[in-house]
Amino acid sequence: MEIIIQPNSQQASELAARIVARTVREKPHAVLGLATGNTPLQLYRNLVRMHRESGLDFSGVTSFNLDEYVGIPPAHPSSFHSYMWAHLFSSINMPRERVNIPDGMTGDIPAACRKYEQAIRSAGGVDIQILGIGTNGHIGFNEPSSSLSSRTRIKTLTEETRLDAAAAFGGEEAVPTHVITMGLGTILDSKMCLLLAFGKKKAKAISLAAEGPVTAMVPGSILQMHPRAIFVLDKDAASDLKMADYYVWINEHKPDWQKY
Ligand code: GLP
Repeated sequence: MEIIIQPNSQQASELAARIVARTVREKPHAVLGLATGNTPLQLYRNLVRMHRESGLDFSGVTSFNLDEYVGIPPAHPSSFHSYMWAHLFSSINMPRERVNIPDGMTGDIPAACRKYEQAIRSAGGVDIQILGIGTNGHIGFNEPSSSLSSRTRIKTLTEETRLDAAAAFGGEEAVPTHVITMGLGTILDSKMCLLLAFGKKKAKAISLAAEGPVTAMVPGSILQMHPRAIFVLDKDAASDLKMADYYVWINEHKPDWQKY
């Protein structure tokens, strides 16, 4: 596990964008796993800028989003479909048919989840999975107690997560209770996991996920089992890490070929 601490979220997002851009340049048919929430917004802004200014080409790229709310149509302003088109897809040249987001309106959720898993496999698997983290340590919408080897399925949100999402829905009562999310096993299958976290309110989740025991009670801690998991943090999100000085030292002494 690699932990990179940057002075602020802007620099952290620029670094994350360089990692994603490098993969897209090296592998024009790359498969990206995408996340929503406030955290990846600056990363997406940077990718849009790289597309406009230096022609970063997404024409061969395929994407799979982590999750979507059940019962929320794609056109709903708080759907993850709307989020992705507003913040990324409308501003880059990724063909619509290569965009995959779980269908929260499907009439047969188990079948749709199996199909989603199959589509990821058929695309060759995810090359880079972008992740945020919930204040309770969830990744995707894998809430505490999720099976560490779970696949794409329906999940019930916790009270804490519904409160965190309340602003986007204009009140907690309007936040859906159920979601479809890639599982922890699905996320673990990706070739690289790139988790971003910013701000003091993520500090506890980050310290538990990175330095605590691997446990279903902190779903992000499963990334300790991933051979290529990178946490890109700002100072505040890193503020509870016991070995922060060591992580900073590692980064300052990287050989050139290892730098991003
Ligand atoms: C939701 C999403 C996660 C995201 C988390 C944190 O639960 N399903 O993918 O990481 O929110 O959101 P934010 O980045 O807004 O703090």
